[in-house]
Amino acid sequence: MIISSPGDFREAARRKLPSFLFHYIDGGAYAEQTLRRNVEDWGDVALRQRVLGGVGEVDLTTKLFDETLSLPVVLAPVGLTGMYARRGEVQAAKAAAARGVPFTLSTVSVCPIEEVAPAIDRPMWFQLYVLRDRGFMKDALERAKAAGVKTLVFTVDMPVPGARYRDAHSGMSGPNAEVRRMVQAMTHPAWAWHVGLRGTPHDLGNVSRYLGKATGLADYIGWLGANFDPSISWKDLQWIRDFWDGPMIIKGILDPEDAKDAVSFGADGIVVSNHGGRQLDGVLSSARALPAIAEAVKGKLTILTDSGVRNGLDVVRALALGADAVMLGRAFVYALAADGQRGVETLLELFAKEMRVAMTLTGSSKIADIGPGNIARL
Ligand code: FNR
Repeated sequence: MIISSPGDFREAARRKLPSFLFHYIDGGAYAEQTLRRNVEDWGDVALRQRVLGGVGEVDLTTKLFDETLSLPVVLAPVGLTGMYARRGEVQAAKAAAARGVPFTLSTVSVCPIEEVAPAIDRPMWFQLYVLRDRGFMKDALERAKAAGVKTLVFTVDMPVPGARYRDAHSGMSGPNAEVRRMVQAMTHPAWAWHVGLRGTPHDLGNVSRYLGKATGLADYIGWLGANFDPSISWKDLQWIRDFWDGPMIIKGILDPEDAKDAVSFGADGIVVSNHGGRQLDGVLSSARALPAIAEAVKGKLTILTDSGVRNGLDVVRALALGADAVMLGRAFVYALAADGQRGVETLLELFAKEMRVAMTLTGSSKIADIGPGNIARL
C-alpha cells in the first residue's frame, strides 16, 4: 500500500501482522478511553499560525543530556519488538541511528542488549522496570553499562498490569491462549516469512533468559505479573541513582506532585506518560497532564512526553506545551511491522517534514523557539 503519511503505517501493520499481535500493540486498557483521548487531545491543541515572520531555514536539531538529536524525538521502549519484525529491536535501533535520534531498548526485548548496542554507532538508551528481584535489576544495569548505555529510562507506571480486554478478545491472553496463539502464529506462513522464522522453534530471545526454563508467551505474561513490585517507593530507588552515573529518566509521570518528587529525587528527566493508555484507563491524556507538570518543573529537569503522538504536528504541540522532546511508541512500531528498518526511517523523515511545515507556519525557526506562544487561545 502507498505510504504518504505517518498514519498510513497503522493500516499497513494491520495487514501484515497476525491479528492478535496487531491488537496487542494497538490496544489499551479497560474501555480504552485514555487511549483514544491521548490521540484526540493532542489534536485539540490549536497551533497559532504566524505569517511573514521571515522564518527561512528551519533547524530541527536539539540537545538532550549532551546528545545531539536531529529532531526532538526518541523511540520509546516497546516490549517484544522483535516479534513484530525480524530482529526488530536491531532494525528499529538502526533506523533511529540513521536518522539521528535515540532508540530505547525495553527490559523485555527479544534481542539482547549485547546484540543491539554494537549494531549502532550512537549510544542506545535502556529502559528498566521495577522488579521484585533487585539482583535481576542490578544485572540488567550492569549489562547495559558494559554495552555503553548512558541514558537509563526507569518506568514506574506499571506496579501492577492494567487489564487489557482486547488481548482477551483476540486470544492473546487467557488460559493457555498465549501459547496456542503463538504456535498458530509461528505456523502462519505469511507471518513466519515476515519475521524470517520459517518454522524454526519459537524463541523469545532475551526474554527467555529471564524466564529460565520457560519459553512460551504465557510464561512471559505470568512472569511479569509475578515479578513487578507494587510496593516500591522513591527511597527504594536510591541505590539505582547511586549505581547509575549517566542520566536517569523516570517514565510514567502524570501528576505535578510526582514530577516535583522526581526533581527532589535527583532525576535528570521525566516522561509525562500514561503508558500509551495501556495502564489505568480514565487517567488524563498526556496533552492534558503536560501543562501543569511543565509549570511545576520546567527548567529543573528534562521533560519528555509520549502517549498518542502520531505525527510531526503533535511533536510541535508537545513542545509548545512544555516538553523538550517526545517519545514515539506505536507510531514507530506500526512502521517497523509494516516495513522494518526502512519503514521506521521513512516514518522519521515524515515526522521531520511535518515539523518543518508546522514550525514555518507558527514562526519558529529552531526548536528552542517553540513555546506556549505557539498555542492559539480559543
Ligand atoms: C509499550 N510501552 C512500554 N513502556 C515501557 O517502559 N516498557 C515496555 O516494555 C513497554 N512495552 C510496550 C509495548 C507496546 C506494544 C506498547 C504499545 C507500548 C509504552 C511505551 O514506551 C510508550 O509509553 C507508549 O507506547 C506511548 O504511547 P503511544 O505513542 O504508543 O500512543
